[in-house]
Amino acid sequence: MDVRALKEMAAEAALSYIQPGMVVGVGTGSTSNLFIDALGRAQIHVEGYVASSLATEARLKSLGLPVLDLNATGDIPVYIDGADEIDPHFRLIKGGGGALTREKIVASAARRFICIADNSKDKPALGSFPLPVEVIPFARSFVARQLVKLGGSPVLRKDVTTDNGNVILDVTGLDLTDPLAMEMRINSIPGVLDNGIFAQRRADVVLMGSESGLISRA
Ligand code: 5RP
Repeated sequence: MDVRALKEMAAEAALSYIQPGMVVGVGTGSTSNLFIDALGRAQIHVEGYVASSLATEARLKSLGLPVLDLNATGDIPVYIDGADEIDPHFRLIKGGGGALTREKIVASAARRFICIADNSKDKPALGSFPLPVEVIPFARSFVARQLVKLGGSPVLRKDVTTDNGNVILDVTGLDLTDPLAMEMRINSIPGVLDNGIFAQRRADVVLMGSESGLISRA
């Protein structure tokens, strides 16, 4: 099976968490795109979808699926999104697609976060994927120096402006043995909007496609 088929297995399985009438948060990335395609086929009569990026909003709309403004909804029953790394405690690294800040907002507004992925994302610990940090452009160099002081090697993601008008620094070399502490530490640097560690708001359920079938953890 190719990776796409494994992602599709997880994306299809996530449909069972959606009930008619719900507001559903939708993530960003190739696995989330497969989930959106599955939603288009399933045509569940939900109240609407809250998109975690402009790209997701456009894809939902292109399939005629109703998009809601987060400011017009209350708490969201369920959020479905992919990840770049998943540890055994359901803590994640996200932001490979640059949408980490809005993803964390929608995930935090959701009562349940269902993470969908192929099983290459299953890791014993976080830290091999470069950590995305969204930074206000004015503070780019200052924040990069602070990240170096934390042990990291930040690299500016080329030609990327986030949906919030910011830049992304991809950081290797950080010690993520305490992901929650590092999430908070990085977010305390002035100029950082958010970073891709999802430890404060980790996933509640992980669905992973694998060669031997769906892995479901809760
Ligand atoms: C985007 C993300 C994605 O969920 C993450 O990068 C995984 O992407 P993919 O489903 O393409 O493997 O965090 O900001």
